[in-house]
Amino acid sequence: MGGARVLEYGIPYKRLPSQERFHKSGARFKGFSGPVGSGKSQALCQEAIKLSTLNKGRTGLIGAPTYPMLRDATIPALLEVLERSQIPYEFNRGENHLVFKGSRSKILFRAVEEFERLRGSNLAWFGVDELTYTSEDAWLRLEGRLRDPQATRLCGFGVWTPKGYDWVYERFVAKQIEGYETILAQPFENRFLLDQIPDYYERLRHSYDARFYEQEVLGSYLHMKVGRVYHAFDRAGNVGDSTAPWLKEMMITDGKDFESTVGFALDQFCLIGYELPFPQSTRRAVRVHR
Ligand SMILES: Nc1ncnc2c1ncn2[C@@H]1O[C@H](COP(=O)(O)OP(=O)(O)O)[C@@H](O)[C@H]1O
Ligand SMILES: [Mg+2]
Repeated sequence: MGGARVLEYGIPYKRLPSQERFHKSGARFKGFSGPVGSGKSQALCQEAIKLSTLNKGRTGLIGAPTYPMLRDATIPALLEVLERSQIPYEFNRGENHLVFKGSRSKILFRAVEEFERLRGSNLAWFGVDELTYTSEDAWLRLEGRLRDPQATRLCGFGVWTPKGYDWVYERFVAKQIEGYETILAQPFENRFLLDQIPDYYERLRHSYDARFYEQEVLGSYLHMKVGRVYHAFDRAGNVGDSTAPWLKEMMITDGKDFESTVGFALDQFCLIGYELPFPQSTRRAVRVHR
C-alpha cells in the first residue's frame, strides 16, 4: 500500500495502491489504465527511473503520441521527479535524450512518428504515455526493439486513459496475452491530487457530458463512436420518434384506414400516415405540419 517510504532508488514516492501494483508487476509488457489525474504519468516516470537503475548503462525510451505532449507534459514530469530526488543527469535537448550521471543509463525521448527511425537500436525498456492516442503499429515497432542482450530486465509498458474498445483495450484488457498484465486504477484514487484540488473531478462533472465523464473521470471503457457519429447525440432529445411514422406506413400498406402524405426537405423526405377519420376537431393543415 502507499505508506510513507523511500524507494531503494533514492526517490521519495508514496505509491498509490494501483501504482504499487503496476510497479510490482514483473510482466514483460504491462499497462496502467486509469482516469485523468489518476497518476499514470507519474507512474510512467517512476517506472522509467526504476528500469534505468536496474539496467545500468543501457538505453530505454519514453514515448508519447506527439512531440508537444512529450515536451510539455511527459519530460517535465520526469525532470521534476529527478530534481526533487536530487538525481544527477545531463539532458541533451538537441538530441532529445537524457543520461544519468551515476549509472550512464540513457533515456531517449521520442514521439510516435519517430519510432520508425529507431531501426537498428536495441532497447532495454520502453514506456509510452497516453497509449490510446498511438497506433498498434507503433507499439509493435517498439516491441521489436526490446532486445538489448545486456539488459537485466526487459520491459515495455504503457499508460493510458480508456478510449473505447480500441486496440489498447483488445491487447491489454480483453485478451489475456501471455506476458501481458494490466492494472486498472480506481476513480478518485489519487488522494494527492484531491488533497490539493478537492473539487477537481466535481468541476469536470459539470463540464463533461455524462459519457465523457464516465470515460475520463471514472476510467470506464465505453462505446464512444460506434453506432453514432457523435456520442452526445441523443435521439430521443434531438429528433422525434422515428419509428411511429413507419409503423403507420406498415399499416397503410396493410390496407388500414390511413391517409398518407410525404414531406420533402432538401434531400430528405418523410412519409407520414394519419389514421382516418380525423377526430372532429382536427383541421387537416394543422395535422400535416405537426
Ligand atoms: N504517488 C504520488 N504521490 C504524489 N503525487 C502524485 C502521485 N501520483 C500522482 N501524483 C500527482 O498527481 C497529479 C496527477 O498525476 P498524473 O500522473 O499527471 O496523472 P495522469 O497522468 O493520470 O493524468 C500530478 O500532479 C502528480 O504529480
Ligand atoms: Mg498523464
